[in-house]
Amino acid sequence: MVIVSKIITFLALQFVADSSLRTVKQAFKNAKLPHTLGIEFKPKALLDVVFLADTSKPPIDVIAGMAVLKNDTSTQPSFSVTFPGKRVIPPEYGSGPFVVTVLDPDAPSPQNTSWAQVRHFLAGNFYFEFGASGPQLVNKTPAVSDWKAPSPPEGSDAHKYAFLLYKQSPEFNDQTLVNSSTPIKNFNISQFAVATGLGQPIAGTFILVAP
Ligand SMILES: *[C@@H]1O[C@H](CO)[C@@H](O)[C@H](O)[C@H]1NC(C)=O
Ligand SMILES: *[C@@H]1O[C@H](CO)[C@@H](O)[C@H](O)[C@H]1NC(C)=O
Ligand SMILES: *[C@@H]1O[C@H](CO)[C@@H](O)[C@H](O)[C@H]1NC(C)=O
Ligand SMILES: *[C@@H]1O[C@H](CO)[C@@H](O)[C@H](O)[C@H]1NC(C)=O
Repeated sequence: MVIVSKIITFLALQFVADSSLRTVKQAFKNAKLPHTLGIEFKPKALLDVVFLADTSKPPIDVIAGMAVLKNDTSTQPSFSVTFPGKRVIPPEYGSGPFVVTVLDPDAPSPQNTSWAQVRHFLAGNFYFEFGASGPQLVNKTPAVSDWKAPSPPEGSDAHKYAFLLYKQSPEFNDQTLVNSSTPIKNFNISQFAVATGLGQPIAGTFILVAP
């Protein structure tokens, strides 16, 4: 029985994360994220985002569009990437580097987006590695813009928080547009991606967080 329940748990964990490029793409479209963020979203991979803020609870494996409690997002999640139908990362991506960014297009509220986009994370030099807890994207340099936990103001509807993965451009490490003291409000990912040669995201997902 113990073995059976372990197998079931294992299978359940395998299927909770986003499992198809088509459903993620559709979820982005339904949430109007490509339009709002000014991106073309044609995912080639699945970005796996796992929150483990409260170690007494099971990890939260993000499915595009799922609601996550604010408390459960208080620490930076871990990231990984899978290329559906491929056993290895395609050679054009190698094991990295990749850039991950997290954006709130709904600030201060979905009805008033005068602060959008708020940059909740921006980091480069992520490489694919097999760690103790399985495959992960590990960043080899400090984040350009550290994890800022979602904190939608009281009274606001839930905000969307979009996670995007880019293949890192050669220019990224020399960019001077954003550093740790740059205000996080009124960021523009499409403008930033053009300026730093990132092109379009290769993967993404998003969550909803209410005050
Ligand atoms: C969130 O965390 C705070 C501080 O640890 C705690 O007071 C609060 O009850 C938690 N809320 C929920 C919904 O878990
Ligand atoms: C939108 O939010 C900002 C920041 O809180 C506020 O200054 C502004 O008055 C709001 N605009 C509207 C139309 O409510
Ligand atoms: C961040 O960028 C601003 C504007 O370019 C600059 O004035 C500031 O010194 C930079 N801060 C750090 C920590 O590099
Ligand atoms: C971001 O920049 C692009 C290009 O300059 C512009 O078309 C778009 O409206 C901007 N988006 C926001 C949210 O300001």
